[in-house]
Amino acid sequence: YSTATFAQQQKAISPDLFGIFFEDISYAADGGLYAELIQNRSFEYTGSDHRGWNPMTAWEYTPRGYAYGKLSVETKSPLNENNTHYIILDIQDAGQEGLGITNYGFNGIPVKAGEQYDLSLFAAKLAGNTMPVTVSLRNRKGDIYGETTFDVTNKNWQQYAAGITVNKTDDSACLVIIAKGIGQLAVDQVSLFPKKTFKGRVNGMRADLGQAIADLHPRFMRFPGGCLVHGDGIANIYNWKNTIGPLEARVDQRNIWNYHQSVGLGYFEYFQFCEDIGAKPVPILAAAVSCQNSGGTWAIGGTGQKGIPMQDMQAYIQDVLDLVEYANGPATSAWGAKRAAAGHPEPFHLQYLGIGNEDKMTPGFEERFTMIYHAVKAKYPEISVIGTAGPFSEGEDYDKGWEIVNKLKVPVVDEHYYNDPEWFLKNNARYDKYDRKKAKVYIGEYASKGNKFINAISEAAYMTSLERNGDVVHMASYAPLLAKKGNTNWNPDLIYFDNTGVYPTLNYYVQQLFAANTGDVYISDVLTFDRQKDSTLAASVVKDSKTGDVIVKLINAGATDAKVKINLKALGALLPKAQVTVLKEDRGVPVTVETDFTKGNITLDGLSMQVIRLHKK
Ligand code: AHR
Repeated sequence: YSTATFAQQQKAISPDLFGIFFEDISYAADGGLYAELIQNRSFEYTGSDHRGWNPMTAWEYTPRGYAYGKLSVETKSPLNENNTHYIILDIQDAGQEGLGITNYGFNGIPVKAGEQYDLSLFAAKLAGNTMPVTVSLRNRKGDIYGETTFDVTNKNWQQYAAGITVNKTDDSACLVIIAKGIGQLAVDQVSLFPKKTFKGRVNGMRADLGQAIADLHPRFMRFPGGCLVHGDGIANIYNWKNTIGPLEARVDQRNIWNYHQSVGLGYFEYFQFCEDIGAKPVPILAAAVSCQNSGGTWAIGGTGQKGIPMQDMQAYIQDVLDLVEYANGPATSAWGAKRAAAGHPEPFHLQYLGIGNEDKMTPGFEERFTMIYHAVKAKYPEISVIGTAGPFSEGEDYDKGWEIVNKLKVPVVDEHYYNDPEWFLKNNARYDKYDRKKAKVYIGEYASKGNKFINAISEAAYMTSLERNGDVVHMASYAPLLAKKGNTNWNPDLIYFDNTGVYPTLNYYVQQLFAANTGDVYISDVLTFDRQKDSTLAASVVKDSKTGDVIVKLINAGATDAKVKINLKALGALLPKAQVTVLKEDRGVPVTVETDFTKGNITLDGLSMQVIRLHKK
């Protein structure tokens, strides 16, 4: 019998160890977490978002019966200078049925019988008399599930809002706007939300997806990316200021992942969602350079990376500083006032700010990162800036990233890696060797390249090493979080979904089991394995000082059973009953039982994970 010892001493674990990485990739935001049901609501889609897209994508001109007229897309008198496209229905004869437009949502609008949907749109009557308008939810054959009517009399843009309650369940309904007068009707910013959003927020998140994310118990949430943050050119760098304020005045943007961002899920909504799920916000801003993997003409050192010109850097740095004021400043400050105007006078308690994402470590990057870092440190010394170690877990960029971080004494560095399960099993000791005097690590993106059980279990084994090294690994987040079936830019992901369902992966349950069972102290030397299989067996023991609970996590990534003994005596006085949660492939979800636990002998099935929660007497 040999003893597998998994650490050297008791030590404190980061309170923010396990969190989530949200990127607007694979329709994670529009058509995903953001509960808006109308696609292309402000007619701003273009061919540069996605080949073939245009202001009428997801819309259809709907002349009905004998109605006669025409539809045009206009830009002459927009609702807002940031939202330039709108449509005009020019009606010469409304017939009996009228004429209008239909929206098909994100491949269908899902509605449920008895539920209310909140409609809002802007309209103006440009010519003719009063314009009666009917907006209905219906199926493609024309059966109406619910509708609302109003008269448009104003020559100027005016917002109309109403609730529509439907009488049928349909996963693929559409929204039809029909005008029944003679004259010209302009329409823009057509929006439809389920009344039931996550936590009932207006302009909120999908209730089921929001809940699935909340159930991960994340200590923090990183947003909005990923590569989305630095974009594929300077113009595509994510600009947080474009994403706040009235929805109709926000600046839509092409998504680096080849679709369109309405930015209705913008910085205010991100902060609010973090608060709603009890996660610390971790916004990531570009280090004033774009993604090195972009096409086009190279500006920095022969890579695809482009940098904000030096003459514009002060303005960019000011944007970064303004974000901290927006999150934390008093409601009387310039940017704090905008937060308050959005309905949140209290601060959002921003503690972390990421600068850069997987950037190529060029001199252009270093110069810009250094400028931004010094400015944030000087004005907001209380903010922990997160730097970046480049795109890989090793190599030239990684070394250079660490060199910059060490030189500047940046408190936290973001490491990313996507590797095979074998890598995660073999590299369990990676952080045992890290120099504790240097920056702490945020593993901002990692995954073992698959959603099979071996992937989930290898990540679980690795996560025990993150707890063991919770003094130097400050934060970690699996990536990416969300992906819409049929629209994935990236695989694997943690949670798949479609318009009506949420499909958590085995990897999800591993993340959940770790985050729901954290401790603040790591306890070593209380486990004995009956044989040493160091690359397939992994374990951690942590204590939650608040409750006195001791939590043991045991991972067997090998095919055969293993015996484990817990030295219960070394853990102090404990109740005789424990909660034991097992995750195995055949069950697909974790199963918890309350059981007698006085001997500490355990048989760990091959390919399984156990979490044992022992309570203080
Ligand atoms: O998580 C998907 C992508 O992987 C991120 O956008 C990027 O940072 C990484 O390369």
